[in-house]
Amino acid sequence: MEKEIKNLREQFKKRLASLETRPELQKIENEYIGRKGLIAQMLKRMSLLSAAEKPKVGQLLNKLKTDLQDALAEKKKELAKGISGEQGYIDITLPGQNFSRGTMHPVELILKETKNIFLGMGFSIVDGPEIELDYYNFEALNIPKDHPARDVQDSFYITPDILLRTQTSPMQVRTMENQSPPVRIVSAGKCFRRDSIDNTHTPMFHQIEGLAVDVDLSLSDLKGVITEFCKQIFGKDRIIRFRPGYFPFVEPGAEVDVSCGLCQGKGCSSCGYSGWLEIMGAGMVHPHVLEMVGYDTEKYTGFAFGMGAERIAMLKYDINDIRLFFENDIRFLTQFK
Ligand code: DAH
Repeated sequence: MEKEIKNLREQFKKRLASLETRPELQKIENEYIGRKGLIAQMLKRMSLLSAAEKPKVGQLLNKLKTDLQDALAEKKKELAKGISGEQGYIDITLPGQNFSRGTMHPVELILKETKNIFLGMGFSIVDGPEIELDYYNFEALNIPKDHPARDVQDSFYITPDILLRTQTSPMQVRTMENQSPPVRIVSAGKCFRRDSIDNTHTPMFHQIEGLAVDVDLSLSDLKGVITEFCKQIFGKDRIIRFRPGYFPFVEPGAEVDVSCGLCQGKGCSSCGYSGWLEIMGAGMVHPHVLEMVGYDTEKYTGFAFGMGAERIAMLKYDINDIRLFFENDIRFLTQFK
């Protein structure tokens, strides 16, 4: 049996040297020192030996077993290094560590989606300052110092001439000052108003502004663009309606409603039983605004529209309180993908 032990040792050495993976190592481990492995079988056969031979062979077998165990442990370490470099052993069979992925804020989702829709209709995106001159925020939009339209848009003033913008409409003027027609832009971003907080008002909110100026633009172009936008953001079966509305920088001006998606315009509690939901202000750019930027009002006409991103999000996702957007409750925020 001594010879057999020696052979086994040699054979094991060779196989250990040539193996490269953990499963192979596991297999050899079972084969040699497992419960029914080769060494175990030899130990069993010791009962057949003479009393004189037993202790010696016993010793040899025990030594063989510990040697093989040491060699296997050494080889395990070596293989682990191959997987994880110098840092130690990584068990690649463990399940991965879960880390929670962030989700896009619902308002950001609306801004992105809206911009994409208008990009698809040939508009480009422009960005403007949140700290704005009174001139752009009001004056150039046909809202002089004593105009009552300023009452509903009180702001946070930095100086009498500089304020946090109350609307994104100033980007109409800034854009027109810098380019000649045709103009087709969308501008989105934060606006600020000195409003009391309730379920539809927060002192900071987001607006999306649109402006197109070209030859022969008419109200039907505006209607077409807004209809397409509503279908894309709310669903194909939605229709829109225009009601007369006053905004100093458009003439005629309109409030735009979209048909309620819950009741298909029949009237339900969600739309105040009217069948309609108000989504934006819009109109044909007032000739005075075009004149202020030096456009030829005989040649060019334009349309403009402006909407609250939070309002669109509330309608699209059926949210009843604007404050939810800003409370940073993960349970709320992770619902929008
Ligand atoms: N800026 C307006 C507001 O905050 C919304 C608006 C109305 C924008 C009509 C427009 C427009 O561009 O044409 O109330």
